[in-house]
Amino acid sequence: MTTTLVDNIGLLVTHDEERPERTDAALVIEDGVIAWVGEGSPAADERVDAGGRCVIPGFVDSHSHLVFAGDRSDEFEARMAGRAYEAGGIRRTVRLTRAATDEQLLDNARRLVAEARAQGTTTIEIKSGYGLSVEDEERSVRLAALLTPEVTFLGAHVVPEGMGRDEYVDLVVGGMLDACAPHARWIDVFCETGAFTVEESRRILSAGIERGLGARVHAGQLGESDGVRLAVELGAASVDHCTFLSDDDVEALAGSDTVATLLPGAEFSTRQPYPDARRLLDAGATVALACDCNPGSSFTTSMPLMVALAVREMGMTPAEALRAATLGGAAALRRDDVGHLRVGARADLVLLDAPTYVHLAYRPGVPLVVGTLAG
Ligand code: NIG
Ligand code: FE
Repeated sequence: MTTTLVDNIGLLVTHDEERPERTDAALVIEDGVIAWVGEGSPAADERVDAGGRCVIPGFVDSHSHLVFAGDRSDEFEARMAGRAYEAGGIRRTVRLTRAATDEQLLDNARRLVAEARAQGTTTIEIKSGYGLSVEDEERSVRLAALLTPEVTFLGAHVVPEGMGRDEYVDLVVGGMLDACAPHARWIDVFCETGAFTVEESRRILSAGIERGLGARVHAGQLGESDGVRLAVELGAASVDHCTFLSDDDVEALAGSDTVATLLPGAEFSTRQPYPDARRLLDAGATVALACDCNPGSSFTTSMPLMVALAVREMGMTPAEALRAATLGGAAALRRDDVGHLRVGARADLVLLDAPTYVHLAYRPGVPLVVGTLAG
């Protein structure tokens, strides 16, 4: 058993309930787990000197779509010139994804996971959703499972070309779920105009829950919908986007343990209004921040950018944004071993080249993550 001491930490964020932040701190890692947090420098086999800098928990990015092929920068360019975002662009990526080899898909996803890691992400969820046939969805979740335990089956992303709605929903809850469930922990539905209705979503999510998968929902991205309340009703771990919410939605979220996951990269990249995090936090809802990395609506893996956007555009304090990007993401994945640095947590930590995490928003676009340790 090797022990590692990280000392000379100028500011340490543990998210400990009584003492969430400590100055002039140190911690000891034993077998990839936080074994001690305090002041001073106890003996250990190895020592890492943090040089007075800030140490935070690794980011938990609870929403990404990394199994895909191709590029849609032309759509982004057209949107920046005034065109609206349409969910139908997903079908273009589906064509390219189906034509790619397993090796190409895995290489691309691996490269994006490495890109996320270099920016401090130590836990990442990955969805399928660009296959939309039994074979292509099965390989998407199978490949995703090589990169993370947090795999989500999103066969219900859109209805694919050449299929009727009812026929496709039957397939998703039938043969596709059979093929994908063994590789996945979660099931998700894009419940939105242009994708799936609330009733279709209820049927798909219920089928997944019956198979032992946890539920997550995409809702409220393009307009208000009953998808948010459906997520709460089904006990989903998270409802993601939440850009358009009614007062009833906010109240329902606040009274539940369904996390409201906000994805400001999508608003940035589709030129939409940002979600109002302040309204959710003031109501008492649990909020997470995630990147939603995908080739259509948000092609970024940068959790520091999400923190900066949340502070600048969504009414969050830097401390709230950091919490949402770490502990909030962990809650959205129902994980209690990540997202914090209390004793017993996985030793997933990030060293910032800054005296405080406030710099994540104060110095936007600057590569502040100088080291990442993952337990
Ligand atoms: O989360 N909302 C649904 N899926 C993605 C968009 C996917 C795409 O445009 O390719 C999202 O924004
Ligand atoms: Fe998404």
